[in-house]
Amino acid sequence: MDKIVIKGGQPLHGEVQASGAKNAALPILASALLADGTSTYRNVPDLADVATMLKVLRTMGCDAERHAEKPDVCHVGVNGHITPEAPYDLVKTMRASVLVLGPLVARFGRARVSMPGGCAIGARPIDQHLKGLKALGADIHLTEGYVEATAKQLKGGTVNFDVITVTGTENVMMAAVLAKGRTVMENCAREPEVEELAKVLNKMGARIEGAGTSIITIEGVDRLMPVEHAILPDRIEAGTLLVAAAISGGNVLVKHVVPEHLDAVVEKLREAGCTISAEGGGLRCKAPDRLNAVNITTTEHPGFPTDMQAQLMALMSVSQGTSVISENIFENRFMHVPELHRLGADITIQGHTAVVKGVKSLSGAPVMATDLRASASLILAGLRAEGRTDVSRVYHLDRGYERLERKLRGLGADIRREKA
Ligand code: EPU
Repeated sequence: MDKIVIKGGQPLHGEVQASGAKNAALPILASALLADGTSTYRNVPDLADVATMLKVLRTMGCDAERHAEKPDVCHVGVNGHITPEAPYDLVKTMRASVLVLGPLVARFGRARVSMPGGCAIGARPIDQHLKGLKALGADIHLTEGYVEATAKQLKGGTVNFDVITVTGTENVMMAAVLAKGRTVMENCAREPEVEELAKVLNKMGARIEGAGTSIITIEGVDRLMPVEHAILPDRIEAGTLLVAAAISGGNVLVKHVVPEHLDAVVEKLREAGCTISAEGGGLRCKAPDRLNAVNITTTEHPGFPTDMQAQLMALMSVSQGTSVISENIFENRFMHVPELHRLGADITIQGHTAVVKGVKSLSGAPVMATDLRASASLILAGLRAEGRTDVSRVYHLDRGYERLERKLRGLGADIRREKA
């Protein structure tokens, strides 16, 4: 198992490029199931989670591969017999595998997908995905740990989500595009990745309006065509790199970003004293001499993203003053806190709130990553800590960051990957 070894204290400088967005690539790859033929995607990040989604698709009989010479290109071909099933072994390694449920039942009339269990950050049920599919006329049965969904022909309907869910919105949207008639989805997730999926589906011939707002309207069509599409930049990776500049006392231009997708993060970095400017299709972050404590409350987009909470907590741990960080999306997303304690951070958890009292300095130590964004948080803290920090269990990191240590090394960080 690999670990990341960091010697902290180097201010980061230079330019770095954000990769394609993991959370857009995953539903978009699944959406290829909706058309006969081969879809081609560019700017697909080279991540463990993307490899898992390609494997899920291959297991079902698709021709799903990364291009041998063009590493950012993937194709998914649906050209023959498909077994509409996602097995436990794959779904348990990546819960986003559940994104094949909507496309499978819409296109093949049947889907058998393992129920994702809970994960490190929360229970994460999929009741809203199922509620939406039922509203479109799917029969849903839960047997032997699997969701079995069947429908000869889905029919448009009204879906009012009880909770705002990103993949739930995506799953139901992918089902509704081939349903007969009109579907109205209310209380939808407004994340840019939902909007991006709708853009891809519309390119394939779907008729979706309102993606990016809380009400999405879909007129079902008979069939969709394969598509070619470049995945949008990863706002969470970009945000993580901006925080790397801030926590290290550096000055970094993160290129290939959509600045408005980062508004909530930029606002907090500015409050913390950073100078953020738009420059050449990117965002530059210049760290202040002294970081201020800021309060953060995670909410659905366009609010502050839960996927940036752990990284901002690392930053707050060395800011001047006390910061209150409330996590409102997942019930157990403070697993990085005990690890940040090991580096000398002063953080107290009260329910879903963490009170972070900024300390003058952190000191390097061995720490353990517990989930994807927790890994990023520990690496960021390691960039700032005096001495050596070893972050183990980096397979979590590799699920969602494309060669983060190389990108940071390119900015001057003393960081390397070692076999543990
Ligand atoms: N929820 C339900 N019922 C449902 C679905 C969700 O109660 O049927 C609850 C969840 O338990 C959670 C809240 O609703 O408390 C929001 O969960 P959501 O469904 O929006 O999360 P997700 O779709 O499973 C996606 C991202 C996550 C990101 C969240 C929130 C993908 C593949 N994953 O997950 O990304 O944290 O939205 O923005 O898009 C990450 O990249 O590190 C990551 C975890």
